[in-house]
Amino acid sequence: MTTADPRCIPLCASSALQDSGRAVAFDVLYAGQPCRAFAIRYAGQVHAYLNRCAHVPMEMDYQEGQFFDDSGQWLLCATHGAVYAPDTGRCIEGPCCGASLVKIELIETAGQVHWHTAPPLQPAFP
Ligand code: FES
Repeated sequence: MTTADPRCIPLCASSALQDSGRAVAFDVLYAGQPCRAFAIRYAGQVHAYLNRCAHVPMEMDYQEGQFFDDSGQWLLCATHGAVYAPDTGRCIEGPCCGASLVKIELIETAGQVHWHTAPPLQPAFP
Protein backbone atom coordinates (compact mmCIF):
# COMPACT_ATOMS: atom_id res chain seq x y z
CA MET A 1 0.00 0.00 0.00
CA THR A 2 1.25 3.46 -0.86
CA THR A 3 0.01 6.96 -0.16
CA ALA A 4 -0.94 7.18 -3.86
CA ASP A 5 -3.77 4.80 -2.97
CA PRO A 6 -6.99 6.87 -2.97
CA ARG A 7 -7.94 5.21 0.31
CA CYS A 8 -5.01 7.06 1.98
CA ILE A 9 -6.11 10.46 3.23
CA PRO A 10 -3.50 13.11 4.16
CA LEU A 11 -3.64 13.88 7.87
CA CYS A 12 -0.66 15.93 9.06
CA ALA A 13 3.09 16.38 8.99
CA SER A 14 5.04 13.85 11.06
CA SER A 15 6.41 16.73 13.13
CA ALA A 16 2.88 17.57 14.35
CA LEU A 17 2.86 14.37 16.40
CA GLN A 18 5.31 14.40 19.29
CA ASP A 19 5.86 11.40 21.56
CA SER A 20 3.14 11.38 24.24
CA GLY A 21 2.14 14.88 23.15
CA ARG A 22 -1.02 16.52 21.96
CA ALA A 23 -3.19 14.68 19.50
CA VAL A 24 -4.11 15.82 16.02
CA ALA A 25 -7.88 15.69 15.60
CA PHE A 26 -9.67 14.81 12.38
CA ASP A 27 -13.18 14.08 11.22
CA VAL A 28 -14.45 10.83 9.76
CA LEU A 29 -17.70 9.12 8.94
CA TYR A 30 -17.98 5.93 10.96
CA ALA A 31 -20.79 3.67 9.78
CA GLY A 32 -22.25 6.74 8.10
CA GLN A 33 -22.18 8.90 11.26
CA PRO A 34 -19.93 11.96 11.67
CA CYS A 35 -17.33 11.20 14.31
CA ARG A 36 -14.18 12.81 15.66
CA ALA A 37 -10.92 10.89 15.56
CA PHE A 38 -7.43 11.58 16.88
CA ALA A 39 -3.87 10.65 16.05
CA ILE A 40 -1.03 10.42 18.56
CA ARG A 41 2.58 9.31 18.68
CA TYR A 42 3.71 6.87 21.31
CA ALA A 43 7.16 5.27 21.60
CA GLY A 44 7.96 6.64 18.15
CA GLN A 45 4.97 5.08 16.40
CA VAL A 46 1.83 6.84 15.21
CA HIS A 47 -1.61 5.54 16.17
CA ALA A 48 -5.15 6.79 15.60
CA TYR A 49 -8.53 5.99 17.10
CA LEU A 50 -12.07 7.22 17.01
CA ASN A 51 -12.53 9.77 19.76
CA ARG A 52 -15.22 7.65 21.29
CA CYS A 53 -14.84 5.92 24.63
CA ALA A 54 -15.58 2.19 24.77
CA HIS A 55 -17.64 2.77 27.93
CA VAL A 56 -20.12 5.41 26.73
CA PRO A 57 -19.71 6.74 23.19
CA MET A 58 -18.43 10.16 24.29
CA GLU A 59 -15.35 12.11 23.30
CA MET A 60 -12.52 11.43 25.73
CA ASP A 61 -10.12 14.38 25.78
CA TYR A 62 -10.18 16.54 28.89
CA GLN A 63 -8.89 19.48 26.87
CA GLU A 64 -8.82 19.62 23.09
CA GLY A 65 -6.12 17.19 21.97
CA GLN A 66 -5.15 16.11 25.51
CA PHE A 67 -5.46 12.35 25.92
CA PHE A 68 -2.21 11.33 27.62
CA ASP A 69 -1.91 11.16 31.39
CA ASP A 70 0.92 12.99 33.16
CA SER A 71 3.25 10.02 32.72
CA GLY A 72 2.76 10.01 28.95
CA GLN A 73 2.20 6.24 29.12
CA TRP A 74 -1.58 6.01 29.02
CA LEU A 75 -4.58 7.56 27.30
CA LEU A 76 -7.37 8.69 29.62
CA CYS A 77 -11.08 9.24 29.21
CA ALA A 78 -12.02 12.44 31.01
CA THR A 79 -15.55 11.31 31.81
CA HIS A 80 -15.11 8.27 34.08
CA GLY A 81 -11.38 7.71 33.95
CA ALA A 82 -10.96 4.73 31.64
CA VAL A 83 -7.26 4.07 30.97
CA TYR A 84 -6.20 2.90 27.52
CA ALA A 85 -2.93 1.56 26.14
CA PRO A 86 -1.77 4.06 23.48
CA ASP A 87 -0.40 1.41 21.13
CA THR A 88 -3.40 -0.94 21.09
CA GLY A 89 -6.35 1.17 22.26
CA ARG A 90 -7.25 -1.53 24.78
CA CYS A 91 -8.77 -0.39 28.08
CA ILE A 92 -6.64 -1.72 30.93
CA GLU A 93 -8.45 -0.06 33.84
CA GLY A 94 -11.85 1.51 34.38
CA PRO A 95 -15.50 0.79 33.64
CA CYS A 96 -14.84 -0.69 30.17
CA CYS A 97 -11.75 -2.74 31.10
CA GLY A 98 -10.94 -5.19 28.30
CA ALA A 99 -12.81 -3.25 25.61
CA SER A 100 -10.99 -1.31 22.91
CA LEU A 101 -11.14 1.96 21.05
CA VAL A 102 -11.83 1.76 17.32
CA LYS A 103 -8.40 1.82 15.69
CA ILE A 104 -7.72 3.70 12.46
CA GLU A 105 -4.81 2.59 10.33
CA LEU A 106 -2.11 5.20 9.77
CA ILE A 107 0.76 5.30 7.31
CA GLU A 108 3.80 7.46 7.98
CA THR A 109 6.20 8.08 5.15
CA ALA A 110 8.43 10.91 3.93
CA GLY A 111 7.54 13.13 6.86
CA GLN A 112 3.79 12.84 6.32
CA VAL A 113 1.05 10.92 8.09
CA HIS A 114 -1.96 9.58 6.23
CA TRP A 115 -4.95 7.67 7.52
CA HIS A 116 -6.44 4.74 5.67
CA THR A 117 -10.14 4.31 5.03
CA ALA A 118 -11.88 1.02 5.76
CA PRO A 119 -15.42 -0.19 5.04
CA PRO A 120 -16.98 1.55 8.10
CA LEU A 121 -14.50 4.47 8.05
CA GLN A 122 -14.75 7.08 5.35
CA PRO A 123 -13.65 10.70 4.94
CA ALA A 124 -16.05 13.22 6.43
CA PHE A 125 -15.47 15.55 3.48
CA PRO A 126 -15.04 13.43 0.35
S1 FES B 1 -17.30 7.55 29.06
FE1 FES B 1 -15.16 7.06 29.13
S2 FES B 1 -14.92 6.05 31.01
FE2 FES B 1 -17.08 6.43 30.91
